[in-house]
Amino acid sequence: MKKGGKIALDQNMLTAKGSPEEETHLKMPRISIFGLGYVGTVYAAGFASKNIEVIGFDIDEKKLKLLASGISPIYEPGLSELVKDCVHRDLLKTVSTAEDAVLNSDVTFITVGTPSNSDGSIDLKYITETSRVIGEALKKKNRWHLVTVKSTVIPGTTEKVVKKIVEAASGKIAYKHFGLGVNPEFLREGSAVEDFMTPDRIVIGVNDEKSKVELERIYSGFSCLKLVTNISTAELIKYVNNAFLAAKVSFINMIANLCQKIPNCDVMAVAEGIGLDKRIGKHFLRAGAGWGGSCWLKDLNALTNFARKNGLTLPLIDATLQVNGMQPFVMVELARQLIGSLNNRRVAVLGLAFKPNTDDMREAISIKIVNMLLNEGAEVTVYDPAAINNAKEIFGDSVNYASSANNCIRNADCALIVTEWDEFKSLKPEDFVRHMRIPAVVDGRRIFIPQAFSSKLRFAAIGLGANEYFNPALAVNAIIVSDRKKILLVKRTIVPFNGLWSLPGGFVEYDETVEEALTREVEEETGLKIRPKQIFDVFSHPLRSPIKHAVTICYSADVLGGSLKSSNENLKARFFSANEIPSRLAFDHHEIVEKYMKSQREYWKRP
Ligand code: UGA
Repeated sequence: MKKGGKIALDQNMLTAKGSPEEETHLKMPRISIFGLGYVGTVYAAGFASKNIEVIGFDIDEKKLKLLASGISPIYEPGLSELVKDCVHRDLLKTVSTAEDAVLNSDVTFITVGTPSNSDGSIDLKYITETSRVIGEALKKKNRWHLVTVKSTVIPGTTEKVVKKIVEAASGKIAYKHFGLGVNPEFLREGSAVEDFMTPDRIVIGVNDEKSKVELERIYSGFSCLKLVTNISTAELIKYVNNAFLAAKVSFINMIANLCQKIPNCDVMAVAEGIGLDKRIGKHFLRAGAGWGGSCWLKDLNALTNFARKNGLTLPLIDATLQVNGMQPFVMVELARQLIGSLNNRRVAVLGLAFKPNTDDMREAISIKIVNMLLNEGAEVTVYDPAAINNAKEIFGDSVNYASSANNCIRNADCALIVTEWDEFKSLKPEDFVRHMRIPAVVDGRRIFIPQAFSSKLRFAAIGLGANEYFNPALAVNAIIVSDRKKILLVKRTIVPFNGLWSLPGGFVEYDETVEEALTREVEEETGLKIRPKQIFDVFSHPLRSPIKHAVTICYSADVLGGSLKSSNENLKARFFSANEIPSRLAFDHHEIVEKYMKSQREYWKRP
């Protein structure tokens, strides 16, 4: 028993002694990998890069050919180089029969897919077929061999399915003639090579000593903790790991939805606040449009299905799935809040892959969001730096495909950030203002700084608290009366993190009294002769300003041009004319602006 909370092997654990021939076999075991998908290819190249001889096998000949010629059949950062190098060094080979793979290796890893059945339960067809061919090959082998399941399988599968099939097909007995192990993977797409090289821990699930020793030998080059458990515990650890991570993300997404109801509250600050507690930890607390990918949904469904079959419910996992199901609605609702009905609106969706740095759209939240937008009657244009080809197979001609982010948002009425690609992080508010018909952005991945965006365009973000004083359509400047002699002219920018108002433009002291200054400006602007008192009647009410004497004056230049120069010249308050804003800023359907305009028109009609 080593340090670090290792779990002792249970009573099922047997000690099997190998033949003298095997005992002297001291060099690294040779490995065969069955299934050259995403996990199999990363492990094949990864083990080979650790100077272990690896043989890859797959029923897909195309994959075998690619790998044999030094090309990775899947895309993963750093993998191509690794594959090329290992094939070149003769450490990574492929064979076209299962028999060759088993007979020329000491340990076989099963890395085939475990998809879902329609009821959410795990579909074991690839596991059973692979177990059968391994068993048939083992029949011809005289030496002990270790069969290790790396695929994600429901507890009990290795013992009840894999073991039985291998025994039946080989005529041999587990833990005597061959060993069994479970060795779950925790690779994230997009950083799988890195995760392989520097794992947090390695879980070795075994019921016999010899299999344990063999797996520990394979992983001897890794410095992290190797946690040894029995087989069914290792099987469960993989599911619980994914379930916990998904629950963590859903938890913060649930809180994000609450933050949206609290003025000036931001889920990012909340996540930081709790993440600093070591018991919680800061990882996987990025709130967003929802989680996706090929594993979590499948694994959570398989786990709940397994629990149900055992007479249990897993309410926290049900809630995890439920919260994730809500996130696409939240995104669409935020878009609706910014521009009203989405019917016949042009909506740009930036990001389709389930996360950045992959073209994978399996269970991507973008699919649900796009379909909802289409149901709302929107005309949808999509862009993704990597996933467009996959998207075409999913959406067909129901959406427009853009070749760049700028093309995607061109003439759009609203843009939704769905995947946090670096390419999108460099977009500036000015880009949206310049290209869009209505500059309105829903940040579903919190890649933009709210202050920078909300002062220049209509902006909403997941988990960004509502600001009851903030109306994106009237992202304007304000004049705040400090006393009766001076006025402070501030940019009316809402700072959701720490307060109500920011003062990026500094302030201007007017020599005139407030009444005089404003009277003059309004007279100049409207050509009407007015009495100073009227100014305050006009300005102090419409936006329910938090500051008693605050007045709001729209800078159309600020909103349109996306920037407010801090020169005195530019800071001069300007009263907008009723016709100007709607036509120039396309606020035509905005109820609040309409109301405001109406009140303005009515006011000026008064005697
Ligand atoms: C996940 C696990 O992280 C791996 O450990 C596991 O091996 C793998 O599933 C698997 O079972 O094969 P992966 O699906 O590649 O890996 O993706 P993650 O990086 O875990 O992200 C999953 C989803 O959660 C993505 O849509 C991501 O955008 C989202 N996410 C993640 C958030 O919304 N917020 C976060 O803070 C983290």
